[in-house]
Amino acid sequence: MTKSQANTSSSAPPKVDGLDFGFNVPLDRAELSSAKWEYEISRKGDPTLLCFGTAEMDYRAAPPICAALERVAKAGHFGYPYKRVSYYEAIIGYFNRHFSWSIQKDWIASNVGIYPSMQPIIDELTSPGDEIIYQPPVHHIFPEVITAAGRTAVANPLVKRGTRYEMDFEDLAAKTTARTKILLLCSPHNPVGRVWTREELERLNAFCLERGVIVVADEVYCSLVFEGVEFTPFAGLSQSASLNSITLVSASKSFNVTGLKHSLFVAENPDLRDAYMRGLKRNNLYFGGCIFGQAATEAAFRDCDDWSLAAVRYIQGNFEYLRSFIEKHLPLVTVTTPEATYFAWLDFGRLGLSVDELRSFFEDEAHVVVTLGEPLGAGGKGHARFNLGTTRSLVEEGLHRIAQAYERRTAS
Ligand SMILES: Cc1ncc(COP(=O)(O)O)c(C=O)c1O
Repeated sequence: MTKSQANTSSSAPPKVDGLDFGFNVPLDRAELSSAKWEYEISRKGDPTLLCFGTAEMDYRAAPPICAALERVAKAGHFGYPYKRVSYYEAIIGYFNRHFSWSIQKDWIASNVGIYPSMQPIIDELTSPGDEIIYQPPVHHIFPEVITAAGRTAVANPLVKRGTRYEMDFEDLAAKTTARTKILLLCSPHNPVGRVWTREELERLNAFCLERGVIVVADEVYCSLVFEGVEFTPFAGLSQSASLNSITLVSASKSFNVTGLKHSLFVAENPDLRDAYMRGLKRNNLYFGGCIFGQAATEAAFRDCDDWSLAAVRYIQGNFEYLRSFIEKHLPLVTVTTPEATYFAWLDFGRLGLSVDELRSFFEDEAHVVVTLGEPLGAGGKGHARFNLGTTRSLVEEGLHRIAQAYERRTAS
């Protein structure tokens, strides 16, 4: 059984009222050098730029993570790490506590990231020319990782109904052939913020089982699910789903440790695990790992529930601010309602700008960086992804700048 029988009692939610993790406090950037901020400022040569692009948060990591990293640094020895029992207990405990998903130690392997894990999976489980399905608009690496491996990337675009996206099962059936071997699922979905319901995932599972398609579920945003929304790990649906899938997950996005390079691979099916290990060996990636990333992952999954809930609440507050601001000041722009992640997915299509014009609108006129939707594939045109994982005051300032640029554009 993959779903916990014994311990479905999620422990009581942590008490976060009154706890202050400093989400409102801007980081002191003097010693920082990040792709999200310092790279963009240097790329544009614009020190006034505000950056809402790269997928990470502008928050200090949770105190238990910082303490775990300090302990490693203080010990002063940075050799190849070994995973103690406590590491596995932290991971197993987290998924059981939050999602009633029971996993076993033997199902877990690690790597330096989610995307580096996709490549050995694709190499070992498919042959050149085989087809792999992905669901755009989605992070551009999904199709890139497929085509870089010499496989055919087949888009099964999401469909937008009102302000919510859904999977297109008719299109999926039409696109699936005898050469379709894997479906790369993004759950929760970046950038559209969907948390797939159990019913949607069950339908997907039934389809993939019938057509012999393995599901590789990228669940990296599973700990950034908004309050009141239920996340179901794909493999936690049923034993058939568990045996026909691989889960890729990490603490990196949800606990803001993207630079620590540690991710998890989870599969109940020993054939899928063996294939993955073969792929890692071929790339000489099966030994070693990042000692800091390992320590941070253990602390994140064991000791940071309160920080995580507080971060989600803060980000939900940022989203509510953004939604009402846009309704009031940018009426031509449509806001998708997210159920997870720190992204607001915004449709600027009615401004009628090309991708270059839209980039210039944000970067040269508003002096803000966002992630443009067009490179995220079908359905991304005219859209922008605004990262809400920052202080409320920066969200306010960024939106005011965008509103001023919008007024200039719409007045002319
Ligand atoms: C859906 C998704 N998966 C994975 C990643 C990257 O994960 P990693 O840095 O572990 O490869 C990203 C980064 O933005 C992402 O959006």
